[in-house]
Amino acid sequence: MKNLNIFRLLLTLLVWSLLFPGALTAQSAGKDPLPDERVKKFLSDHTGQWYDMNVPSADGQLLYNLILKGNYKSALEIGTSTGHSAIWMAWALSKTGGKLITIDIDESRYKKALENFKKAGVSDYIDARLANAHNLVKELKGPFDFVFSDADKEWYKNYFSDVEPKLKVGGCFTAHNISGRGRDYGGQAEFLQYVRSLKNYETTINYDGGGLSISYKKSEK
Ligand SMILES: C[S@@+](CC[C@H](N)C(=O)[O-])C[C@H]1O[C@@H](n2cnc3c(N)ncnc32)[C@H](O)[C@@H]1O
Repeated sequence: MKNLNIFRLLLTLLVWSLLFPGALTAQSAGKDPLPDERVKKFLSDHTGQWYDMNVPSADGQLLYNLILKGNYKSALEIGTSTGHSAIWMAWALSKTGGKLITIDIDESRYKKALENFKKAGVSDYIDARLANAHNLVKELKGPFDFVFSDADKEWYKNYFSDVEPKLKVGGCFTAHNISGRGRDYGGQAEFLQYVRSLKNYETTINYDGGGLSISYKKSEK
């Protein structure tokens, strides 16, 4: 009888770990397991109320989908603002068993983002840094498997060059506000031209929201 109970427990754990790969990792790390309902409610309550240069919901959903599709676990965001995109990414990472590092230079937006992460129930999945990303991106050790670049556009190519040696093969580098239809200028145009020139990256643009370039790293060189 005792053996049967142990067997049942192990079977339940196995089924759980297959259905929700992030849940057991989160629980064993003392984290809020799968904050689905809380996050959904927070995002739905705040629809249309993101006024700090935040991504539209379509891009949040896209980032979420990309992380789940790639089963990514080590993500970096450059440009937190008040945390809209970070909440979507952290939600996906709560399911993959991953974590997001996000950086912003502006103290008031950083503080608001921390509040939002708490309210959305995703703080455990986010390491938010108040810093100049020009320096911090160089210093971060990595490796990363997912990057979302959404800070100062004139620095896009530099961010890419600094982070790309730390991006795993199979990983994905995304950048916001990219048109890709010959209408990019300044930093966006410079970045897009550069990433498209690299043979080991495959780049497409998604137009569901504000224009997101999606570059997959296919090989090291
Ligand atoms: C377009 S907003 C980011 C929106 C955010 N991804 C969202 O959807 O909620 C750009 C942010 O980048 C930050 N930023 C600009 N230059 C930066 C720098 N050098 N280092 C860190 N953050 C920077 C700004 O303070 C601003 O909050």
